Amino acid sequence: MRAYDIIAKKRDGGDLSREEIDFLVQGFTAGEVKDYQMSAWAMAVFFRGMNPRETADLTMAMVHSGDMLDLKDIKGIKVDKHSTGGVGDKTTLVLAPLVSSAGVSVAKMSGRGLGHTGGTLDKLEAIPGFRIELTRQEFIANVNRIKIAVAGQTGNLVPADKKLYALRDVTATVNSVPLIASSVMSKKISSGADAIVLDVKTGSGAFMKTVDESFSLAEAMVEIGSLVGRKTTALVTDMDQPLGLAVGNALEVKEAIATLKGEGPADLTELCLALGGEMLVLAGVSSESGQAREHLSQVISSGAALEKFKEFVSAQGGDPRVADDPSLLPEAKYILPVLAEQSGFVQGIAAEAVGRCAMVLGAGRATKDSPIDSAVGIVLAKKRGSQVKAGDVLAYVHANHPVRAAQAVSEVKSAYFVQDGAPAKVPLVYGRVVPNGTFRF
Ligand code: URA
Repeated sequence: MRAYDIIAKKRDGGDLSREEIDFLVQGFTAGEVKDYQMSAWAMAVFFRGMNPRETADLTMAMVHSGDMLDLKDIKGIKVDKHSTGGVGDKTTLVLAPLVSSAGVSVAKMSGRGLGHTGGTLDKLEAIPGFRIELTRQEFIANVNRIKIAVAGQTGNLVPADKKLYALRDVTATVNSVPLIASSVMSKKISSGADAIVLDVKTGSGAFMKTVDESFSLAEAMVEIGSLVGRKTTALVTDMDQPLGLAVGNALEVKEAIATLKGEGPADLTELCLALGGEMLVLAGVSSESGQAREHLSQVISSGAALEKFKEFVSAQGGDPRVADDPSLLPEAKYILPVLAEQSGFVQGIAAEAVGRCAMVLGAGRATKDSPIDSAVGIVLAKKRGSQVKAGDVLAYVHANHPVRAAQAVSEVKSAYFVQDGAPAKVPLVYGRVVPNGTFRF
């Protein structure tokens, strides 16, 4: 077999066999298939696509390129949740303790943020003392003892994806449904998930800007799940404006805590109930999503979800008192209001611009080694559909540097689009994709 022939076959629109895909991925991981060949192949896939069987074969070839996390010592079905990334997306911080307190074992490997979206690990590290580096033994012991652990990736998981993603990033081949779907699913499968709930974001702050593209990605991932024996459900959800109000690490932890107390923003609460409901159903804890939501609402109102958060934080070395006293989290020196210049309705908030602004304030990384400032970020005071008068506060910028603060105020102001007339309502959840079909709401 030769890489050349496989590239040419895909370039000409052919379907690759499992053997050809394995040959390419193994050769690439070992350095025998060269970067320029793999880049040419990725471009051929970008234009020609892959059928579901090829996409599933690519996923499993990538899974087998490295280690697989062995979670068989954890009892019960391990359900993982993955978001395709968004601004202000702190759902893992809420969902992990929420579903754990409802009886699902959460054994989650998370990532750091890059670009305009934040990562769960960076958010957790805003909690004083919190350790995201756990040994495999600690990780498994915590899940067996308290049903929850969230840690950074250890071991050599999916090296083929790491190498391929780095090439795609510089060859304009990130935005391909089969390449994104296999990349996401290979990571979930190699980190031990038996079942997977996907939050596929759609809109200006997401990878997929249109609803149709987002459904295509959701369908491709659910199909991979079916073909490789992992129960998978996807929700397609709005990322045309930031999720919740807070963007920035400590600010998002604060908002997650409020949500676990039943005092969070409506969209974040609703999304956590929707995704959490799917997780309970896949874990077999609830028989259907209505009953699951009821169960989740109960563990919030009884205080059990917040108690689980404290237990989780303590077990990983963090200070659990942040749950009762969020002022123990890092706070910024300057808090500046962003004022509306005209009256009207908020028609939209450019999510990506708000995410980039938080990053420039220091909440995110420009490169993978940049330091993070946990305290800084943006707290929205108005969301899409709110009526405002000139001079009203649209948002607050939390900064530690006066020049950056002033710059952020003007950028956040530009991210708001205010005009006469109430905008049309946009759904938070556009639909649900399961193995037996797509249901658009
Ligand atoms: N997220 C991933 O993990 N992989 C992609 O290819 C795109 C987004």
